[in-house]
Amino acid sequence: MGVTVRPLSTPSEFEAAEDVQMSAWGMGARAATPKEVMIAINDNGGLVLGAFDGGQVVGFALTLVGHRAGTVYMYSHMTGVAREYQSKGIGYLIKRKQREVSLKRGFPFIAWTFDPIIARNAYFNFKKLGVIARNYLPDYYGPMSDSINVGWPTDRFLCEWFIEPEQLRKVRSFARLPLREAHVVIEKRGREPDVFCQDWKIDVRAEMALVDIPDDVVALKRRHPGEGRRWREATGETFKAYFAAGYSAMALLKGKDGLRYLLARADLPPNIFAEHG
Ligand SMILES: CC(C)(COP(=O)(O)OP(=O)(O)OC[C@H]1O[C@@H](n2cnc3c(N)ncnc32)[C@H](O)[C@@H]1OP(=O)(O)O)[C@@H](O)C(=O)NCCC(=O)NCCS
Repeated sequence: MGVTVRPLSTPSEFEAAEDVQMSAWGMGARAATPKEVMIAINDNGGLVLGAFDGGQVVGFALTLVGHRAGTVYMYSHMTGVAREYQSKGIGYLIKRKQREVSLKRGFPFIAWTFDPIIARNAYFNFKKLGVIARNYLPDYYGPMSDSINVGWPTDRFLCEWFIEPEQLRKVRSFARLPLREAHVVIEKRGREPDVFCQDWKIDVRAEMALVDIPDDVVALKRRHPGEGRRWREATGETFKAYFAAGYSAMALLKGKDGLRYLLARADLPPNIFAEHG
């Protein structure tokens, strides 16, 4: 598939990006960011990229300029790929172009939020891209009604993607650390797809800590709403405690039993989002 990525330019292309949002998130038209807002952002320092399969827009990313504590950075508010085009490498192509443009414009990192226990997004952000997270935003958007977010608090990681090659290499090296001494905070019980979280053991003396996440918490919470909420509560308490103690989520490890976060203390640029909590 010869998909190309470039900034959107005509009103009809921006309108097509509204359709991509509805398809990617399963949201209604009212919840989509309207084309007028996307055009305003694109023409005033932001960046709205589209992924094109021939003439058709099949993916997009909406990026604003952020400013905080004397640092100017890119903030990626939405990245979405139309449902039937997902898991074909298009999301990665979009982020690669977003990184290329951001580097060219002189930004040190791109930030965005995502739900840390949705394995697909965690995998995409940590394993494919190499983000880190050290800020946890409980119920960030309040209640949402789309098919992914309905029915529980919209907790988010605020992740940072340090896009300069040297910094990115440093982050990537954490995925290769030996884990013998790591403390296991959350270990999933049962067999996929019905895996449960019985308890969580916070211990901030260890050098590194590991946190399991289910393969598909969105489907799990549909079948077992209480267990879904328990995953939210357990991981939320864990990430808040470790981030407050100076750890960051530095990698997502893929083993035979699934995905687990690696939390560690790392030498990173100052945390300009610290007041988020
Ligand atoms: C997140 C999103 C933008 C990624 O785009 P994409 O085109 O699917 O991304 P890619 O194909 O480049 O990469 C997806 C990776 O996730 C993997 N993946 C897919 N489903 C997964 C799952 N349930 N668990 C773990 N990994 C999963 C794919 O195998 C692929 O990895 P691989 O290339 O190593 O095989 C897209 O899935 C999307 O639009 N999702 C809904 C909207 C959303 O949640 N956006 C927020 C993003 S932070």
